[in-house]
Amino acid sequence: MRRIKIFDTTLRDGEQSPGVALTPDEKLAIAQQLARLGVDVIEAGFPIASQGDFEAVRRIAEEVEGPVIAALARAAKPDIERAAEAIAPAAKKRIHTFIATSPIHMEKKLRLTPDEVVERARWAVAFARGFVDDVEFSAEDAGRSDPDFLVRIFGEAIRAGATVINIPDTVGYQVPWEFAELVGYVIEHTAGAEGVEWSVHCHDDLGMAVANSLAAVRAGATQVECTINGIGERAGNASLEEIVMALYTRRDFFQAETGVNTRELSRASRLVSQLTGMVVPPNKAVVGANAFAHESGIHQDGVIKARETYEIMNAELVGRQAAVLVLGKHSGRHAFRQALQELGYELTDEEIKQLFTRFKAIAERKKTVSAEDLVALIEDERTRAPEHFKLIDLQVHAGTQLTPVATVKVQTPSGEVQEAATGDGPVDAVYRAIARAVEMSPALEAYRIEATTGGTEALGEVAVRLRMGTVVVGGRGVAPDIVEASARAYLDALNKLVAGVGSREVVETP
Ligand code: KIV
Ligand code: ZN
Repeated sequence: MRRIKIFDTTLRDGEQSPGVALTPDEKLAIAQQLARLGVDVIEAGFPIASQGDFEAVRRIAEEVEGPVIAALARAAKPDIERAAEAIAPAAKKRIHTFIATSPIHMEKKLRLTPDEVVERARWAVAFARGFVDDVEFSAEDAGRSDPDFLVRIFGEAIRAGATVINIPDTVGYQVPWEFAELVGYVIEHTAGAEGVEWSVHCHDDLGMAVANSLAAVRAGATQVECTINGIGERAGNASLEEIVMALYTRRDFFQAETGVNTRELSRASRLVSQLTGMVVPPNKAVVGANAFAHESGIHQDGVIKARETYEIMNAELVGRQAAVLVLGKHSGRHAFRQALQELGYELTDEEIKQLFTRFKAIAERKKTVSAEDLVALIEDERTRAPEHFKLIDLQVHAGTQLTPVATVKVQTPSGEVQEAATGDGPVDAVYRAIARAVEMSPALEAYRIEATTGGTEALGEVAVRLRMGTVVVGGRGVAPDIVEASARAYLDALNKLVAGVGSREVVETP
């Protein structure tokens, strides 16, 4: 079996998804889950892009153990210096530097000759090697580059000290047969090819990112770059869970394996969806809500007789089966702590105390608290901004014949403030009342609601995105009542605006 390395770029390319803005705390929570998942490399960010990006990479480098921590840098001195500074605390670190190599990018974007591009690449790799022993070089838009030019630039990068060479299909233009041929050709002809890892990085513009990545593995690639839920620039990147499960399920064909603990895939998917606000379509392979659901009578009959009739993967293998634990209002602190452990969370006594208080309040209003409910609560607690504004009370009057009216009481630094407002719907009324109470009126750019489980008993989980000028923040709230969850999400985002976290400066990203 060949060992294929998984390079996760959810926190860098994934975070470039339109409308996504993660705070350093949220990025750290995702990085910790990626480490639990067992990926080989976490690309933690693009430190030159903003102060927030730099801080997030730095914290991940300080706190996350296991995977190599990589930071992205253009082939330029300030980028490489900033990347090196951000990853310095990591036990295993990599600088990932890149320059475009396709004729259109070199001529129109960089305005450099091919010789100048080769020289910059060589210089950047050598300069990065002055900071770290592990340097990855990417030829941006390799998918539309001349194969012989790639052979030349990769040879120079290897001579300058690159340890990993990446072949990105930046614009998702390739098809599997063609991409496999390109990867095979470049590996065969590049001087020094045998001493480096060969990586691929595919985008999904034509829906072929996963297929192209797998074709590249067959052609000799030893590392695949991908993201949880396939999020990323434009149509996204190759989806990590699909790559990993394809390699596992068809190991007879690929003769390859990864180091990923597949049982952590569902939790990773859920966390990324919750924190980015990017919903996973129900029919998404491996992690979609319907991926293991059987609707037709013929299929149901088959599955009852033998699961393998219609299932090529076991739902438990991807962590889909909710832990059998169910808690209720009579459950004590001990059972609660044990449930958290069963779910794989190592929490401090203080965190458990806070969670237990919220769990009790929810269990009073809801018969049972499921594993999914608990996971939603934990992530909500862990990623919540410091509470500058805090919800004390909320009342809403709404009905088919009524104009919705909301009254809110909010704790602010200058004391308790009560306000009321009407709105187009109950959530609109609540948001207007809160905006009055805190004297802030950001634009609501996105609002999403989901249930933690099926049924009317589920907890409601709301994600919002607010904008004030150029600053964009995300907020989340979880509660048995969807209007309350909406209010919590709105206040969480307002608290982030006040704390100045989660902002996305306008930067040039690759
Ligand atoms: O798509 C791309 O080319 C990239 C590079 C920076 C690897 O994201
Ligand atoms: Zn990319």
